[in-house]
Amino acid sequence: MQTPITNKLITKAVIPAAGKGTRLLPLTKAVPKELIPLGTKPVLEHIVEEVIQAGITQILFVISEQKTAIRTHFGDGFNGVRFDYEFQRVQKGLADAIFCAKDFVSADPFAVVLGDSTIETDRDILPFRRVLDTYENTDASGVIVVQKTPRDEVARYGIVKPKSDVAPSFQIDGLVEKPMPDEAPSEYAIAGRYAFDANIFEYIKRTAPGANGELQITDSIGLMLADGAEVWCVALEDNEIRRDIGTFESYFEALIAEINRISRSDA
Ligand code: G1P
Repeated sequence: MQTPITNKLITKAVIPAAGKGTRLLPLTKAVPKELIPLGTKPVLEHIVEEVIQAGITQILFVISEQKTAIRTHFGDGFNGVRFDYEFQRVQKGLADAIFCAKDFVSADPFAVVLGDSTIETDRDILPFRRVLDTYENTDASGVIVVQKTPRDEVARYGIVKPKSDVAPSFQIDGLVEKPMPDEAPSEYAIAGRYAFDANIFEYIKRTAPGANGELQITDSIGLMLADGAEVWCVALEDNEIRRDIGTFESYFEALIAEINRISRSDA
């Protein structure tokens, strides 16, 4: 059973950044993939700025022992925002990385922001802020950003099953990590921004290894749903684009988009 939630104001964010970055070798041999440049600053600095802009005041970076350059770069904090660090010693999957934040989170609600993807938007209210608003203004125990994705690419992502029509925000009644195209319950892919009750840790504890043999947060959210909790999604609008730096192809696309943005703003 879930512990009743009284505090729904989110001020804490967890940024998992412990992954090995093997798809970007040799670039990531000594440099964490989150610190590779996206224009004038590292990818992760763009993400930290997004998180701070949305109103978060405490950030925990989950890093590995090989990635302490992240701590060297960011230090203890910035403009009144506190930065903490926790090590994930063995990379057992995203759910396990989030579990490393248990002490930092305590009983508070919190956000999770993946350290390898940015979201481009021209809206006044950032998609990540819309996640926090949806969490705070509904009975959701979990909220996820999703983006519409071509069906032949669904196997790269977690895919949600909408409970009703897709709207700017909507409830789901299922989700699956990296489904085959003909098994995907929709074309809405999880896009790296989440909000959770601290109850999620109980579901992570009960999560068995899933896709790729890893502990998947998608499966923990599935357990939460099965227990009767509400899980909501915030859909990216047409002009909002998630860019990840997980592969050279996607990194180059993100880099070109950022260089074009810089040239436009210099013009
Ligand atoms: C992770 C999540 C997946 C999500 C993706 C993009 O997968 O497990 O549900 O769709 O990030 O945000 P990964 O890219 O680590 O394989």
